[in-house]
Amino acid sequence: MTADSPAVGVIGVGWVGLVTAACFADLGHEVVAVDVDVAKVEGLNRGEVPIHEPGLAELVSRNAGRLTFTTEMGDALERARLLFCCVDTPPTYSGDADLSRVRAVVDRLPERGDHVLVMKSTVPAGTGDTIRRQRDGLAYVSCPEFLKEGSAVEDFLHPDRVVIGADAGDEDAAGAVADLYAPLGGEIVRTDVASAEMVKLASNAFLATKISFINEIANVCEEVGADVTEVARGMGLDRRIGHHFLRAGIGYGGSCFPKDTTALKQLAGNTGYHFQLLTAVIEVNELQKRRVVGKLEKHLGALEGRRVALLGLAFKPDTDDMREASSLVLAARLQGAGAEVVAYDPVAQERASELLPSVEMRDSAAAAVEAADAVVLVTEWPEFGELDWAALASRMATPLLVDGRNFLDPDPIRKAGFTYEGIGRRQVEGGDAAGGGARSADVTDAPA
Ligand SMILES: NC(=O)c1ccc[n+]([C@@H]2O[C@H](COP(=O)([O-])OP(=O)(O)OC[C@H]3O[C@@H](n4cnc5c(N)ncnc54)[C@H](O)[C@@H]3O)[C@@H](O)[C@H]2O)c1
Repeated sequence: MTADSPAVGVIGVGWVGLVTAACFADLGHEVVAVDVDVAKVEGLNRGEVPIHEPGLAELVSRNAGRLTFTTEMGDALERARLLFCCVDTPPTYSGDADLSRVRAVVDRLPERGDHVLVMKSTVPAGTGDTIRRQRDGLAYVSCPEFLKEGSAVEDFLHPDRVVIGADAGDEDAAGAVADLYAPLGGEIVRTDVASAEMVKLASNAFLATKISFINEIANVCEEVGADVTEVARGMGLDRRIGHHFLRAGIGYGGSCFPKDTTALKQLAGNTGYHFQLLTAVIEVNELQKRRVVGKLEKHLGALEGRRVALLGLAFKPDTDDMREASSLVLAARLQGAGAEVVAYDPVAQERASELLPSVEMRDSAAAAVEAADAVVLVTEWPEFGELDWAALASRMATPLLVDGRNFLDPDPIRKAGFTYEGIGRRQVEGGDAAGGGARSADVTDAPA
């Protein structure tokens, strides 16, 4: 990098924007990162990283000298040519993506100049075309982001592929984006804008389909006495299938899959095409979140007045992101059924408290399960694999565990005194009666 090469502009400093800014800085670029959230920018300027993302705080701190955080779009326009748009695109009531923040960014770009708008926000196919028609002369590149929260820095720095979409006239701009990514080594897929936009939506829809598929297989396994973890192991060894996203559980959540699947379904619907498969994928996921309630009722009967402990609230481990977390639906359903809900999450508790004001938060797993009639493992935080489950069983009114992520090995958990229920896992011969730690006659041995 030469001292006078232009800075990289990043607009929107959330999960994607902050990771993008920190990683480009780590590659040696000056980065000007803009956000409308004054408190967030002030915090970042004090060195405070507002999200839990492994390795990110270190990266931001190590590259502080190359990172400028500002609320002034003019700073980025002055110093950067490539402007990476990383603003949020949440769902509207109709399920379509809300592009108001993207439009707000486009409105701030000057009529003339050599700026390139690089779209990293997930937008419906056709968005780039619309922006280009509205802003004749604006160079536009689609560069969708595929990072996963929990391993975002790693994913950004070691991408499977980098998709770069540009239409006629913007080849140079696309080349400049490709140059920026070249040191990362992932395969660069150069294509047109609409196809790049569709790669992102189709990838998320496909992964969501895999999850809903294995969840439906799990539900059938429960009916026929098979074990979905064995089934997935056998399936995944087929290289055409693979092991990824074949773990049955209580459904996907997070800031991307729910909104992006719905947005693609709506996008298809808006063109008159009914995307039946994706419609089913979304419905299966919604129902899956609720199946835990039935599992608890199977053992406890009516949940009125029962105390249920949730272990993990974040939508996945290694993040404090609570957007569309399965725990939100589950807690609401349990409370709707009259249960008292207590919870513990290693890092998401603060964000979760705002969203779940009537859930009692505890500062450890042991405190959460105290006197509980059941515990539900909602998020597979590694520390839950290290718990002294026998000690936990002895603190509970009824040592019943629903493992919503099939995270634990059932045998030691049963030996620790629990009645164990996974998702699509085989029940033990003669029913899964609670062992030595059981203290309640309410635990029934209904077959799965
Ligand atoms: N989070 C992920 O794992 C992930 C992965 C891939 C793609 N994406 C996509 O990337 C986009 C961003 O997602 P995110 O999770 O980082 O969102 P986020 O909500 O964490 O961050 C968005 C940021 O943009 C800022 N912002 C909003 N309007 C602005 C404006 N006009 N100017 C400047 N800043 C503005 C917000 O204040 C916020 O800080 C979304 O389209 C999302 O679908 C997210």
